[in-house]
Amino acid sequence: MPDPGDNIAASLSALRASFRARFEAAATEQALRDENAKILGKKGELTAILKQMGAVPAEARKAIGEAVNTLKQEVEATFEACLRNLAKAERDADLKAPPFDLTLTGRAPSPVGHPHPISKVRDEIVDVLVSLGFAVHDGPEVELEENNFTKLGFPPDHPATDMQDSFWTTGGLLLRTHTSNIQIRAMTTHAPPMAFIAPGVVYRRDDDATHSPMFHQVECFLVDERVTLAHLRGVLSEFAERFFGSGTAVRLRPSYFPFVEPGAEVDVGCPFCKQPDGTRAGCSVCKRTGWIEILGCGLIHPVVFESCGIDPEKWTGFAFGMGVERVAMVKYGIPDVRVLFENDPRMLAQF
Ligand code: PHE
Repeated sequence: MPDPGDNIAASLSALRASFRARFEAAATEQALRDENAKILGKKGELTAILKQMGAVPAEARKAIGEAVNTLKQEVEATFEACLRNLAKAERDADLKAPPFDLTLTGRAPSPVGHPHPISKVRDEIVDVLVSLGFAVHDGPEVELEENNFTKLGFPPDHPATDMQDSFWTTGGLLLRTHTSNIQIRAMTTHAPPMAFIAPGVVYRRDDDATHSPMFHQVECFLVDERVTLAHLRGVLSEFAERFFGSGTAVRLRPSYFPFVEPGAEVDVGCPFCKQPDGTRAGCSVCKRTGWIEILGCGLIHPVVFESCGIDPEKWTGFAFGMGVERVAMVKYGIPDVRVLFENDPRMLAQF
């Protein structure tokens, strides 16, 4: 019967002779760990040898036990060393690899956005008026009744002040119905002469094909000595030339606003029915008139100066307020104001 001690000794020397080469052949950490488990794991080769120790005669047990322990320590140390070598090789390869190319384009470039047509048109209006010498003045959208109506000469029972036409909050505050509130704010804080524009959002209880309850205006006003309608007309014509292009037809129609005298509405030639020879045939957008209204204007009423503590005998001025959506419709040939608020990307992408 073979001696179990000899059997174990033979297994030990076979393992001792082979384990280094097996570890070194493992190319990845996982392969190395698998190999280690085959030797030291629960069902590993060295563990199997240890299980046979009980059959070894007592006198041989000590020597064989020491040999098993020594081999176990060698296996463990070699495994750790191989693990470190693999990590170092991986790091060296990383360091030697070509650096990241930061100039490569991204894999899925996302589409680039741009300002909304209303913002674009507002900025273009502001640019033209700033180039004519006006400075930008800002003001709140929630306004006191006196700045929005009373000091501009609206009588207390004016229909615009009605709950049906304006959005009221509490305590005499409302959402401003126009940017003319900035006339009052500027004239009560600045001494004349002055020349300001005020772009901003305004609110009215209107909602149909040509009216949105929230829309945009740009107010423009100038206070100086001996200002006449000719100055107003000159600025409007220059604005139309620079903004819509040379030869743009402009007309003033007498109209009424409590804070100007005389007052007028300004129309520009309808782009929707314009013929090659410059005449306009009339269409549904311009209600067959060939003209589209874009703003209200006039010479500043003495009552406005008085409510701001400015001497109306000495100072004069003009003011106009234009609708940004109206101007955008004319400039880009948009027949329905609602497309500006629907935010359909197929529409917005065209600007
Ligand atoms: N504030 C007027 C409106 O919203 C427009 C306007 C401004 C008219 C300045 C005259 C002078 O309708």
